[in-house]
Amino acid sequence: MHALPALTRETTVGAIVTARPGLARLFEHLGIDYCCRGKLPLEQACAQRGLDPATTLTLLQSAADALGATPVEENAAGMTLTELADHIERTHHAYLKNEMPRLVEMANRVATRHGENDPRLFEVAAATRGLADEMFDHMEKEEIALFPLVRRIENSAGSACACDMLAAPIRQMEIEHDDAGRAISHLRELTDGFSIPDAFCNTHRALLAGLAAFEADLHRHVHKENSILFPRALELAARAPSPTA
Ligand SMILES: [Fe+2]
Ligand SMILES: [Fe+2]
Repeated sequence: MHALPALTRETTVGAIVTARPGLARLFEHLGIDYCCRGKLPLEQACAQRGLDPATTLTLLQSAADALGATPVEENAAGMTLTELADHIERTHHAYLKNEMPRLVEMANRVATRHGENDPRLFEVAAATRGLADEMFDHMEKEEIALFPLVRRIENSAGSACACDMLAAPIRQMEIEHDDAGRAISHLRELTDGFSIPDAFCNTHRALLAGLAAFEADLHRHVHKENSILFPRALELAARAPSPTA
């Protein structure tokens, strides 16, 4: 477990979750985006949500104290880049590959059966299909191109030829993370916050629960890439000797 950075209004929300992943739950609860907007200082993140920074700081500190008493917190920040890329593939990518087809199938079924009662269900199905397509395409780029490059940079102590090749794909992945974040926020709006009490049937209920779990997993997944893997890979690449040195 890493030490919590000195908590101030200037600490970025991404750095807070990197040091103490268990605090992601509090940010989820407060509606603070610690993944795609992980570079925002706490004060700005609070302002976007209409939250008082002083109160939020107190809440974070108490939650961090409470976490101190719990035994296991996933430690992505303590992994090597290779370990982290492997971990992301084994956990988040594997989860998405398994879960996305199931969500698409359920969303299609619910729209067919109940769309006439709530036309938004057709939009939910279309948005779920679109998000699944985007995520599969995105993961393929990471697994085939970007992650192997990151592993190569780490294992060759930063080969100069690879450094220039890293910035553009990372920027592209960050753009796609923003797109996925907007898509799941849209699905949250279309379903009134994944509201299960209003579900039409068990499949609809399972779909809403599945989308809520998808959102939570996406936030953790994107946080690990945007706030840990990518900046550390860029930092390592920047330290590599230039070809002319
Ligand atoms: Fe990923
Ligand atoms: Fe990604």
